Amino acid sequence: QPLVGLVGWRGMVGSVLMDRMQAEGDFGLIEPLFFSTSNAGGAAPAQAKNESKLQDAFDIEALKRCDVVITCQGGDYTTEVFPKLRAAGWTGHWIDAASTLRMKDDAVIILDPVNLPVIRNALARGGRNWIGGNCTVSCMLMGVGALYKAGLVEWMTTMTYQAASGGGAQHMRELLTQFGTLNGEVKDLLADPKSAILEIDRKVLAKQQSLSADEMANFGVPLGGSLIPWIDKDLGGGVSREEWKGGAETNKILGQGAGFGTAATPVDGFCVRVGAMRCHSQALTFKLKKDVPVAEIEQMIAADNAWVKVVPNTREATLKDLTPVAVTGTLSIPVGRIRKLAMGPEYLGAFTIGDQLLWGAAEPLRRMLRVLLE
Ligand code: HSE
Repeated sequence: QPLVGLVGWRGMVGSVLMDRMQAEGDFGLIEPLFFSTSNAGGAAPAQAKNESKLQDAFDIEALKRCDVVITCQGGDYTTEVFPKLRAAGWTGHWIDAASTLRMKDDAVIILDPVNLPVIRNALARGGRNWIGGNCTVSCMLMGVGALYKAGLVEWMTTMTYQAASGGGAQHMRELLTQFGTLNGEVKDLLADPKSAILEIDRKVLAKQQSLSADEMANFGVPLGGSLIPWIDKDLGGGVSREEWKGGAETNKILGQGAGFGTAATPVDGFCVRVGAMRCHSQALTFKLKKDVPVAEIEQMIAADNAWVKVVPNTREATLKDLTPVAVTGTLSIPVGRIRKLAMGPEYLGAFTIGDQLLWGAAEPLRRMLRVLLE
């Protein structure tokens, strides 16, 4: 069985990956070799077979033994270890959740339900670097990839509602801590049905504006009861790195744009952090190349892959099936609010949600392993 190194399997994304690999029987097909950045020599987890000791994640010789390395350890690890491993002559497959290598020419952004042909093409040409996409982009394309595959999209705007988990585990804790602090501030007033709501509001705002540095160490500002319309670095020109990824990665996943021989599709919009836990949501506006009836669009979207689900554009169905709470912990990608917009028959609106730890991070990695094992 191929020797598959697992790095960063204990973190948030890594733990979700381990659960999914377990659930899908992936460990039955591989000999796992577990790595650690802090506990080399310790006992490997229960999924280990013959390799029962944790290996040092910085030990190039140990990594070199692997046919495949899957890492959820993060960008700093990739930056430090990947070049050394390749320089040491390693020709195995590197599957990575971090963004470090994503836009490199010799790397493919993996999302096989959407871009299996791009993946197979690269494999045939000797590709060895397989990188998971940005979470919002992956979830969005799982939902509406059908419209791109059909060549219908002239351009798309994406307005995101991104969960705390996109920042990391500490960000999720911080959000909940803030909610708790705010609730504590007005608990007595809330318990009294006769208390004045404007008094409650005033006290909440005063607390938000005086949160200690510790209570907003990760987000930098309050997120509980607020939102943050900037995600990731400032690239200059008024564009955030998350917004840039929307266009750059969507096109790269689809094999469009620079170097691919087909024109890139403009994709742009604003990325916003909201107080959701681990589901990223997106309001999409498409300019279609032609007027296609909504019923046809719904059919195309629904037929695209096994996980996408069209939610009827009614209040009742939306409230039931199109919320982060309804989607969290599932591989389901609901697409709802599908309708033509007032600007004209080529303008289509839709709203989609995905669990950013599943399709947004872990799932494409284990599915790439399966592609390699075929
Ligand atoms: N950059 C994403 C976010 C996370 O902050 O939500 C993962 O791609």
